[in-house]
Amino acid sequence: MIDGIVTKELKDKEAIPYDLLLIADPSKAVIEKYIADSIIYTAHLKGEMVGCYVLYPVDKETIEIKNIVVDEKFQGQGIGTILLNDAMDKAKLNGRKQIIIGTGNSSIGQLYLYQKVGFRITGIKADFFKDNYEEPIMENGIECRDMIVLTKEL
Ligand code: ACO
Repeated sequence: MIDGIVTKELKDKEAIPYDLLLIADPSKAVIEKYIADSIIYTAHLKGEMVGCYVLYPVDKETIEIKNIVVDEKFQGQGIGTILLNDAMDKAKLNGRKQIIIGTGNSSIGQLYLYQKVGFRITGIKADFFKDNYEEPIMENGIECRDMIVLTKEL
């Protein structure tokens, strides 16, 4: 596991890191629907931004990770795991009872990672990606159609 990752809340005046957000969510139109009501946390290693995640308040009990991404150069070194744990800590400090995350049926690695840190599958939004994204999304040789919703009690 990599040492020295620091997370910071993005301030109002700072630029939204769309280049990173678009890696996790290929539609700027979809990002625009949640970003204004969310808090963005950026992750830094030796002063360089290496990733970020976005927390969206669903209700008093629940917060959702709407977007989580690690710069491609830094993937596979444990930073995604650090960011997921950081998001859970922030949600707990916020008094939330549960944290949720949604990902595509085709995102096999992400489904593995989220369950590894303790999320359980709690729902499926059938045809979410077909209905909300203009272009078909192909991943791991299958079409991304449905959103798998995972929940972790805090
Ligand atoms: N494919 C296969 N395995 C993966 C993937 C993947 N895409 N992502 C993580 N894993 C596995 C790793 O191999 C590792 O396995 P191990 O513990 O057995 O060695 C484990 O998950 C932990 O991986 P980390 O190194 O902690 O994760 P990483 O720093 O690579 O970050 C992330 C994971 C954020 C998914 C990153 O791969 C990424 O930015 N991907 C592109 C954007 C994306 O798909 N974001 C999520 C979309 S869903 C959403 O945003 C709500």
